[in-house]
Amino acid sequence: MLFEKNMNNSTTQKFIQDLRNEYAAYSPGSGKLKDRAEQVMMDGGSHTIRLMKPFPPRIVRARGSCVYDEDGHEILDFWQGHHANILGHNSPVLTEKLAEAFSSGFGLQTGFTDLLQIETAELLCRATAAERVRFTTSGTLATMYAILLARAYTGRDMVLKVGGGWHGAQPWGLKGVDFNIATDDFQHIDSSGIPLSVSDNVIVTRYNDSQMLEDNMKRFGDRIACFILEPFIGAGGFLPAGGEFIRTARTLTESCGSLLILDEVISGFRFHAGSAGSLYQITPDLATYGKIIGGGMPVSAVAGRAAVMELAGSKGGGTVKFSGGTYCAHPSSMLAARIQLEYLRDNAGQVYPYINRLGEAARKAVEKAFRNAGVYACCTGYGNDIIKGSSLGMVFFPKKDGYCVSLPEDTRNPEICHLELGEEALRLALLLEDVHVMHGLGSVSTAHSEEDISRLYEACCRAAERIKRAYEV
Ligand SMILES: Cc1ncc(COP(=O)(O)O)c(C=O)c1O
Repeated sequence: MLFEKNMNNSTTQKFIQDLRNEYAAYSPGSGKLKDRAEQVMMDGGSHTIRLMKPFPPRIVRARGSCVYDEDGHEILDFWQGHHANILGHNSPVLTEKLAEAFSSGFGLQTGFTDLLQIETAELLCRATAAERVRFTTSGTLATMYAILLARAYTGRDMVLKVGGGWHGAQPWGLKGVDFNIATDDFQHIDSSGIPLSVSDNVIVTRYNDSQMLEDNMKRFGDRIACFILEPFIGAGGFLPAGGEFIRTARTLTESCGSLLILDEVISGFRFHAGSAGSLYQITPDLATYGKIIGGGMPVSAVAGRAAVMELAGSKGGGTVKFSGGTYCAHPSSMLAARIQLEYLRDNAGQVYPYINRLGEAARKAVEKAFRNAGVYACCTGYGNDIIKGSSLGMVFFPKKDGYCVSLPEDTRNPEICHLELGEEALRLALLLEDVHVMHGLGSVSTAHSEEDISRLYEACCRAAERIKRAYEV
């Protein structure tokens, strides 16, 4: 990078403080709500990464690729409901039918079951080749239940996961997520309050490292209940799993009598109208779905082999208390899910080529905008020989010119990347251009257009100029 030598901590801190000040002046309406929010909610909200300093934009409405805030800014959004809104925000495909249902007296009568739930389950099972499904309300709960099922089915305690793998804030998922590879390898426990008996039973292995996986399976295989893995790691950097890694995972779990759980909360229905696992031509024992399948409503699912799933049903003795909660398979959520799944099934030929093409264009646009300013930025989110196109992206500022982030541990390593630049500085600099990103970029929906990608490009050019100015002496 042209001015790498000037990129020290105090310059970065000053740059970020200047951006915060400028943003506060630019968004007084959202700013006015800061104190009120912080008096009743920790840090002023209920989801940590939605919050930011000095305060987040407070949204009043959203449509398609954009959200609108208290200050009247039309913000081009690449976060898209944590990547759930593959048809854009408040797509009429969904809202028109939901509005119709509400006005006809259908939608909030949770506590019963209905035809709609059967239809939605059929759609999901057909699209993913699962034998049974049970719906719940969040990806977090889905992965927790899947692990309970696996532990009960195998009668074993240990859970194997990958470093950087995010499966929601549930006890078995909170190890080896936010590690710093230089200081604590993968052994980082991500939350206080977790029983040691749980975290001691979580083994963390390196993503896309078949040898380490083999070593772990050799050492612990007969005690491992399940290996939980994202086929395209999300929070860990939007990186596709290698074919060999996934095949090794399938072979070794099978030979050791462990279950393979594919966490498809991000990857499910993101690359085609089904599971990413099927692109790798493997069948997991269980898979978890969320985000996209709910059409913007809180829907998630555990789906998989009947013999395992039935442990939560009467045929399997009902020993696993995956028995549901008040809002499980909520009728309005099921309606949104059914509409979404049908739409993606019927329009897959248009939806996926379109978002993959724009996703590629978005990543290239970001890289070009920074390259033109002499700032080296690299995007992840590209596909591989198996997942051929992708509508996802993250942005990193590697310290070494030309270095491409390829492992989850790179994304958290301050020796490898300018972490604050990629996260906080870029998010603020782009918000000042009315563009909202998460981890540098995010996801593209069918509501995004070529013009939106040009707008992203222009915004990144101006953000790159700001970075250049901040570090040039
Ligand atoms: C791969 C993966 N699994 C599980 C979860 C948790 O899902 P939720 O936020 O719906 O609880 C997430 C959320 O981002 C995720 O990315």
